[in-house]
This record gives sequence, C-alpha cells and structure tokens, in this order.
Amino acid sequence: MKYQKIVLLGGSGFVGTNLALKLSQQGYQVTIPCRRPHRLREMTVRPNIKLVQANIMDQSQLTQICKDHDAVINLVGILNESRKVSFRRVHVDFVKSVVHACQTNKIKRLLHMSALQANQASGSSLYLRTKGEGENLIHTFGQKDLFVTSFQPSVIFGPGDSFVNRFDGILKLSLGIFPLACPNSRFAPVFIGDVVSFIAATINDPDSFSKRYPLCGPETWTLKQIVEQIKQSRGYHCKIVGMPNSLSKLQAVVLQSLPGKLFTMDNYRSLQTDSTCDQDYGYCPSSFSHYLAHLSRPNDPRSLYDDYRKQI
Ligand SMILES: NC(=O)c1ccc[n+]([C@@H]2O[C@H](COP(=O)([O-])OP(=O)(O)OC[C@H]3O[C@@H](n4cnc5c(N)ncnc54)[C@H](OP(=O)(O)O)[C@@H]3O)[C@@H](O)[C@H]2O)c1
Repeated sequence: MKYQKIVLLGGSGFVGTNLALKLSQQGYQVTIPCRRPHRLREMTVRPNIKLVQANIMDQSQLTQICKDHDAVINLVGILNESRKVSFRRVHVDFVKSVVHACQTNKIKRLLHMSALQANQASGSSLYLRTKGEGENLIHTFGQKDLFVTSFQPSVIFGPGDSFVNRFDGILKLSLGIFPLACPNSRFAPVFIGDVVSFIAATINDPDSFSKRYPLCGPETWTLKQIVEQIKQSRGYHCKIVGMPNSLSKLQAVVLQSLPGKLFTMDNYRSLQTDSTCDQDYGYCPSSFSHYLAHLSRPNDPRSLYDDYRKQI
C-alpha cells in the first residue's frame, strides 16, 4: 500500500466511525482527531486506530496532526448552521486549511466528502452551494500538488444513521397524523457499507485521482414513500399527510426557530433539488427497501436489546 497512514477528519461521525472500522480491518493506520474522543470508546480496542483530542479548526493543530501521514480523508460537514459555526467556515474555509496542512506536510493524497447536487453556482441551498465550493476548491488547489478524489452521496442509510432514525423518532411520537414537508422530493438512498467500501477501495487506486463520484443506491423513492415504508416496517399506525409547498415552507420557518432545529429553511431549499443520479453507476448496490423491510419493530426482543445497549 502506497498510502497507508491516514488522518480521518470527521472520524467521530456516522460515516467516519464506519469508515475507520473498514480501514482498520484492511490494515491501514488511522488517526482520528476529534473533540470528544471519550465518546468513541469502541474504537480504542483497534490497535491501528488512534484517537487524538484536538481542535481541527485551528490551523496549527491540524497541520501538526497531519505530520508523518500519507493521506487525509475529510468527512467534516454540518447540516445546519449555528450561532457558533457557519456553512462557509466548515465547508469552505476548513477545506482550505486541510489543503494547507497537506501541502505543509508534503502529503500527496486527499479524499473529500461532498454531497449529491452540491454546486457552487446553482445549488438550491447554502448547504449545497458551500459543499460545491469546497469540492471545487479541493480539485482546483489539488491539481498541482495533490491527488484528489471526492464523493457525492445521496442520503446515506444504515444502523445509526440520522435519516431513518430521525423519521422513526418522529413517527414514534406521532398521534393520528404526521404532516410531512416536501413529500415529493426524491432520493436514491445509499448504504453506509457500500459507501465506506467504495471510499476505501479508491485510496490507492490511481484511476480515481481527480475524479468526483456520485454515490446513489439502486432505487429511487419520494420522501413520502420512504416515510411510509419506515412506518410500515416499524408497525406504527399514524396517517402520513404530504403538505403542499406553502405549508412545507411554513413548517420550516417555525421549526428552525425552535431548539434542535428539526427542519430549517435551508433544509427546505435542499429538498427542492432531487437527490438522485442520472444513471445507476453500480458502485453501491444495496437495497434501501430491503433494509427497511427488515427493521425490527419497537417491542421485538431485538429492539428492546438495542435500546438496552444504548443505555449502557
Ligand atoms: N449522512 C448522509 O446522509 C450524508 C449525505 C451526503 C453527504 N454527507 C456528508 O458526509 C460527511 C459525513 O456525514 P455524517 O453523516 O458522518 O455526519 P456526522 O455524523 O454529523 O459527522 C460529521 C463529522 O464532522 C465533525 N464536525 C462537524 N463540525 C465540526 C467542527 N466545527 N469542528 C470539528 N469537527 C466538526 C463532527 O465532529 P463531532 O463528532 O465532534 O461533532 C463529525 O465527526 C459530511 O460532510 C456530510 O455533509 C452525508
């Protein structure tokens, strides 16, 4: 393996923890700088995963962490802005810092997670525009010194995801009717196992240098179809009612001002663009409907056991 010692930025998140375990199985040395390493106890049993407590938004700390590594994978991203941090800071300025850290340490390989439909000029939301700008930056600055690959997934599903689990949590609490915003938005959900296998396979593959890969699952569903399937497989009884555009917008305006920001105007704008691919590239073959059909029901022994494990 030419690129063997990897810094995994965003390694504490959903994609990051799954990717770290995959890379560790394949014999890579993985360093994960993160804010709260104590939350990743399960990683510490792997001898080739190293957790380092650090503020990666600080350029000097980031550059220091990347020292003596061969490659960097950047998964850092946010879905909502907060008072402390903006999309621009995380998706654009931070990307410049990552490129700088690579250049200072003479690291030649950089992999970067973008999003499907990310587009600097025409993205329908600030999330998609800043994601697109960050991706363009990496490919532009990368041309001279770096071998760059980027990934553009549709929504990612799998155990511990925030997509299925978020709707599951809302459906569980819904009494009678669940009003669903943007019911006709379309997705090609992609399985986390396929995503991390694909990323891992590109690290040492020269054919992937300078490429941008859209990652879609084999099926396309509307949001309403997805939520209906979650409802059925989990055995909930509420009625899902798709809201018209004006009410979807109103829901975003109301919910974005509440704690937790369950749904924002920027999320609403992202949903105005279908998160689907032009064709099935075949990289990520796992079926979302098959996954949903096998979700356990809330009072199954499996579910009770999972709930118990979350508490310990
Ligand atoms: N999941 C999806 O469906 C999906 C779809 C398309 C694209 N993506 C992209 O894929 C990437 C990974 O997604 P994910 O689902 O794994 O997200 P996630 O679970 O929210 O993880 C995000 C990671 O970024 C880190 N991060 C965010 N803001 C940070 C900050 N200010 N300082 C330091 N670290 C920060 C988080 O660290 P902490 O743990 O310390 O917060 C975490 O490690 C993101 O770039 C996302 O935009 C995801």
